[in-house]
Amino acid sequence: MGGGFYVSKVVGVVGIVFGAGAVATIIALAVVYSEELSKSSNAVGPTNGGSTVTAPGSSSVKPGTIVPTTKPSNEQWDKYRLPDTLKPDHYNLTLWPRLKPNAEGLYIFTGKSFVVFQCVKETDLILIHSNKLNYTKWEDGNLAKLSALGSIKAPTIKTTWLKETTQFLVVQLDGKLTAGESYKLYTEFVGELADDLGGFYRSEYEENGVKKVVATTQMQPTDARKAFPCFDEPAMKAVFHITLLHPPETVALSNGLEMAPVPVEEVGPEGPVNVLRTSFEETKRMSSYLLAFIVSDFDYVNSTTDNVLIRIYARKSAIEAGQGAYALNKTGQILKYLEKYYNVSYPLPKSDQIALPDFNAGAMENWGLITYRETALLYDINVSSNSNKERIATIISHELAHMWFGNLVTLKWWNDLWLNEGFASYVEYLGADDAEPDWNIKDLIVLGDVHRVFAVDALASSHPLSSNEEDIQKPEQISELFDAISYSKGASVLRMLSDFLSEKVFTNGISTYLTAFAYDNTVYSDLWTHLQMAVNSSGTSTSLPAGQTVHSIMNRWVRQMGFPVITINTNTGQISQEHFLLDPDSRPSVPPSEFMYEWIVPIRWMKTEVGQPQLWLQEKTANIPDMKVTGSAWVLANLNVVGYYRVNYDQSNWEKLLAVLSDRPESIPVINRAQLVDDAFNLARAKYINTTLALQTTKYLKGETEYMPWESALDNLDFFYLMFDRSEVYGDMQAYLRQQVQGLFDHYKTLTGNWKDVPSGHMDQYNQVNAIRVACSTGIKECLDLTAGWYKQWMNDSARNPIHPNLRATVYCSAISQGGAKEWEFGWKQFKNATIAIEADKLRSALACTKQPWLLNKYLEYTLDPKQIRKQDATSTIVYIANNVVGQPLAWDFIRDRWTYIFKQYGGGSFSFSNLINGVTKRFSTEFELKQLIQFQAEHNDFGSGTLAVSQSIERTKANINWVAENKASVQAWFHAETILPS
Ligand SMILES: *[C@@H]1O[C@H](CO)[C@@H](O)[C@H](O)[C@H]1NC(C)=O
Ligand SMILES: *[C@@H]1O[C@H](CO)[C@@H](O)[C@H](O)[C@H]1NC(C)=O
Ligand SMILES: [Zn+2]
Repeated sequence: MGGGFYVSKVVGVVGIVFGAGAVATIIALAVVYSEELSKSSNAVGPTNGGSTVTAPGSSSVKPGTIVPTTKPSNEQWDKYRLPDTLKPDHYNLTLWPRLKPNAEGLYIFTGKSFVVFQCVKETDLILIHSNKLNYTKWEDGNLAKLSALGSIKAPTIKTTWLKETTQFLVVQLDGKLTAGESYKLYTEFVGELADDLGGFYRSEYEENGVKKVVATTQMQPTDARKAFPCFDEPAMKAVFHITLLHPPETVALSNGLEMAPVPVEEVGPEGPVNVLRTSFEETKRMSSYLLAFIVSDFDYVNSTTDNVLIRIYARKSAIEAGQGAYALNKTGQILKYLEKYYNVSYPLPKSDQIALPDFNAGAMENWGLITYRETALLYDINVSSNSNKERIATIISHELAHMWFGNLVTLKWWNDLWLNEGFASYVEYLGADDAEPDWNIKDLIVLGDVHRVFAVDALASSHPLSSNEEDIQKPEQISELFDAISYSKGASVLRMLSDFLSEKVFTNGISTYLTAFAYDNTVYSDLWTHLQMAVNSSGTSTSLPAGQTVHSIMNRWVRQMGFPVITINTNTGQISQEHFLLDPDSRPSVPPSEFMYEWIVPIRWMKTEVGQPQLWLQEKTANIPDMKVTGSAWVLANLNVVGYYRVNYDQSNWEKLLAVLSDRPESIPVINRAQLVDDAFNLARAKYINTTLALQTTKYLKGETEYMPWESALDNLDFFYLMFDRSEVYGDMQAYLRQQVQGLFDHYKTLTGNWKDVPSGHMDQYNQVNAIRVACSTGIKECLDLTAGWYKQWMNDSARNPIHPNLRATVYCSAISQGGAKEWEFGWKQFKNATIAIEADKLRSALACTKQPWLLNKYLEYTLDPKQIRKQDATSTIVYIANNVVGQPLAWDFIRDRWTYIFKQYGGGSFSFSNLINGVTKRFSTEFELKQLIQFQAEHNDFGSGTLAVSQSIERTKANINWVAENKASVQAWFHAETILPS
């Protein structure tokens, strides 16, 4: 996933203020639905005969035999990593997915595969990854055939067996393979085409009342081995010759361009069948996790840019409705932009992108055949909002960025995943900006990544970007790396790096890196080396502080967790740095690195209204005489939040900044207005400043119409709602916010001619949503009547939805929250009938807004019934319900009650599971809730990929308890005093 594991940046459309919806910090739309992993994998036996394949001296055992407990063995096959004895050269693989169940009701695929590999070091053992595959047993009783390619003879196979925990097909030989010689290993196998969203799996949907099945893949990180036996590590690059057998009337796609399909008669367990055989051009040398095989009856639209064939595939009805047009339109442009940015031409002859009805991540960057959730690729002007459109532009840009960075050049092992994902998460903004230059989308990285990940990286349970290779072994450990730190912190520090090197030097380094390591693998420091070369040859090496290199600066950001808060004392000119922890009493979970929480910090800043030359802070403290100011002069640091750090000031500078905000806000760049709010709230959480000082940054919003500061404030006030929406503070807080938002609501009412027009600016469109969302959630009657009226109009004529796509998520939520069963049932019916996933998603989040417990409980039941809610959407729907103050306790009871089932279904995957745990517990702020959580942790010894999320939740709950105790009274008093007409 990671590679394509896109996390939605624009989910905050429906916020906590409504009591439901998505939360900015770490809750993503991206949902993983994964098969259970090693914990309880299915018994896999040979396909013919009933005898059990037994591992000599270890693992699998005939039923009924009593085995003496033996010491854990430490054979090569007990380790998760491949030995360094063999290297694949190429594979020939034929797969035949059945789109109809067999006599036993099972969807299966059959396969024949050989791999030609070279022996690098003499060995009598072949280990090749294989998971949940059943093999044909040959005459000699073995599951594979071995031959030699050269003149020598291959040793005979002694025994073969499957090692389930480490997911190997083990081939033990009578003699040794010779170093330097090539061999060929042949197997035939059968696997299940399950609906588990991993490996080779099936996706189902209905079209014109007909149930249809798509066979598709998600290999990253470790599921290629579920489709065929392979050396399933990113450094084991090889060339793949792929052939798919598929029913007539279907099309087969893979990484390479397809050759003309040939009708053939194939014989399977079901007898002879007429099928099409489609072979594909051989791939480039590539990693197994980037493979893709898809059989569907989809249609496509296409175009050609610079001899690259671009095709967008989707369900026939979606293509017919023109929903692929936007993606097609932008892909060529973004490809061209990226070719220029990298100064390396696109390495493949084609770029296919396909929208799938069931997909775990947002998208996956399979080389030449990118897979997407429908919502991440399909655009419909009548249904899609501007945020849907932005998501499509950025996610396409993200995945295309990987075609070079990640696919052409691949990190050697998953511990460096952050570089792959961080890079694409940064460059996605650049590509999308080129595609939509009017949006100012590059600014949004500050909200979407920098602020978002600050929230996670300020916890003591955070972790460094870089992990040690030896600490990342098991599939679950790999999955756990696909988190906000890898994506968003990675993006943030690379953006900072590009800024202080200059984009020209940065891209020169990227370009030589991509050229030097094409079709090969790297470690992250290889990139530093190439960036340093670019610095040296640019003649501007003075942009780095004397004696420092790209390595020495960046390793501090990469090898230690967290980030600094820079404190500037404008009375003395003293400036200092300190590790910023949201809970000042917490202790980091990992021992400090050799850098002892000191960073080399590039500081862009301004004095009063004048930009100043960039500074470097290299020590704990420094004296910068220029930063000493008097009179009305002020200092503002981290201009445009290019740096990955927060900034604190002495009280008098804070007061001057507050005054500027209210008197001449345009003196401060809009991104920094958002920063001042976000820094202040977080500094208050960490007790650097008073909570009331943070609240004061929201006073000027009365006159603010820009999106970014509003969004930043609302993100931060979400926390206040979480902590107080069940307490007596709630009324005063609502009254204050109602007063603050009235101006914004009126502004948009005028701007849109009484809600008839759409504001022209992208950010204005976003802030219009905020205006309505907050006005309605704080009970402004005019707003409630507006949303309820629109919804009623729709209920009266369901064929004509009068609500603009931009506003739908918010309006639906407001109307359903005001309404009862009638409104909910109407929304549910529309959800079930929606023909475009983008519309369904809006309804799915809005249905969680109802205040009726019985409806919420019914909805919770639906989440685990795939006929009602797609499996890919189950966990995010539970989180939506938990965001609702009424739904929160219901969701918590529900997941505890169904824990065994939920864990079995979702526990092995990546994002979704930790999102579920974090999402359901984020309101926790009482001793009683803490006790329940600790008890929950104690009752279950394994949380799979949610292990970290459970400890994060406990830490967060403790911090919340303290925070509420310390702040409740003063916060209530402040809201009360600042509201002109207290309610
Ligand atoms: C592998 O497959 C390709 C394409 O299907 C074919 O041209 C090639 O001859 C095969 N190689 C071997 C050794 O069979
Ligand atoms: C693989 O073998 C196991 C054990 O015999 C069986 O339960 C399973 O259904 C088989 N899988 C397939 C896809 O045939
Ligand atoms: Zn990615």
